[in-house]
Amino acid sequence: MPTSLSRRRRFLSSAGVFALPALGLCLPRAFAQARELPPLAEIALDRSEPGLARGELSAEQAVVPVDGGFARLTTYNRSFPGPLLRVRRGETVQLRFSNRLAEETNLHFHGMNIPPVRRADNIWIHVPKGEAFEYAFTVSQRDAGLHWYHPHIHGKMARQMFAGLTGAILVEDPPEIADALRGIDDRICVLKDITLQGEDVEPHRHLEWPVGKEGAQLLVNGVRAPMVRARSTLVRLRLLNASNARYWRLRLTADQPFSIIAEDGYFLGAPIETEELLLVPGGRAEILVDLAGREHVTMWYHPAPRRGHAFTAVQPLLHVEPRADATPVVHPARLGVVPVFDETTVVQQRSVVLSLLNICSQFFREDRVDIHARAGSREIWRVNNVDLMDHTFHLHTWHFHVLSVNDEAPAHDALRDTVNVRPGDVLRLGVDFKEHRGRTLYHCHMAEHSDKGMMAVIQVD
Ligand code: C2O
Ligand code: CU
Repeated sequence: MPTSLSRRRRFLSSAGVFALPALGLCLPRAFAQARELPPLAEIALDRSEPGLARGELSAEQAVVPVDGGFARLTTYNRSFPGPLLRVRRGETVQLRFSNRLAEETNLHFHGMNIPPVRRADNIWIHVPKGEAFEYAFTVSQRDAGLHWYHPHIHGKMARQMFAGLTGAILVEDPPEIADALRGIDDRICVLKDITLQGEDVEPHRHLEWPVGKEGAQLLVNGVRAPMVRARSTLVRLRLLNASNARYWRLRLTADQPFSIIAEDGYFLGAPIETEELLLVPGGRAEILVDLAGREHVTMWYHPAPRRGHAFTAVQPLLHVEPRADATPVVHPARLGVVPVFDETTVVQQRSVVLSLLNICSQFFREDRVDIHARAGSREIWRVNNVDLMDHTFHLHTWHFHVLSVNDEAPAHDALRDTVNVRPGDVLRLGVDFKEHRGRTLYHCHMAEHSDKGMMAVIQVD
């Protein structure tokens, strides 16, 4: 059943500049030597007190394995990618964060439905070098899925992230999703590009600030084109784009369709079939790949049609093959319930204009509130990109509904926190401030852009 979404995506890809043969079809078993997809390290959590999960996280330089070699990266807990924070709904997380870097840093819990204040997702807290801070928050009952953490100090975020500071957060499935997806092999894939010069991370060059820094090595959990031997005939890939600026356009061998089941940490109402997924920096998606009757399937990277990026060839990212004893499983029919956004109760409309390195003609200033909103109210934001380059719109704390793109309704309802805005696009976003108050940020998630001023302050009270 081709949805209008997959039609649009097909159109998008055929409009691209690359004529692509069905590369995967003639692929020999070159991946036979591929490394296994490494599971992510995890933050050890002490749950000895009921309702509490206590853990420790450090930021430090370390020499770590990267794609079969070693490199000196900026890491969380001396691992790359950073260790997974695996939490449950309703529990209180206490995370003692030690900054062992030579400069300040901090944590942002991207996508988590937690307050932007106190010890929770408070990006105004800076942890000076050599000091520690205890973050604490309660995981919302509405949260489920893949989120992530990364530093958020203005002017330092791009360098710290590029050098390795990124980690995934997983909120365990609620019972109805666990039921719908029972028996399905489940892998977390952190997509992160990096460029190494010998053992070190290549520093930013001047030109990379306006266009965004992309790494030459495309890694999945720190490895190039690893392999998954799946325990079931359907495999669930939970994908996080932890890159600074790279857009990952993903397709399977021979344009085999796959299903999207979640975006930005929220399950869709039902799986959406497509042949292509565009994952922008900061974005997450979960997909189901069908292996029934196949020897293997490869997920390919395709360059995204965005301006300014260095040329990167089409290349394999991940090989998946079913084990001989893979259990057959069926596709889920229903997933989550996406709440409806009631436009009749909107109290405020706003215009957010994205332009190169600024928002509404203003560069970021932390002492200026750009949007003041009322707690409990609903608003519609008209986000318009007047630049010549794609930008990635991200709002902290409050997921939003994409109501329309250039006056067209999206093919399916979803709650998002990070979306692409192409040159000339006008997105209408429905923002519901029903929960949480405080002062936080919205910005372009290409880290170089937000560092250079494409970021603004919102206060809700
Ligand atoms: Cu993932 Cu303001 O960030
Ligand atoms: Cu941008």
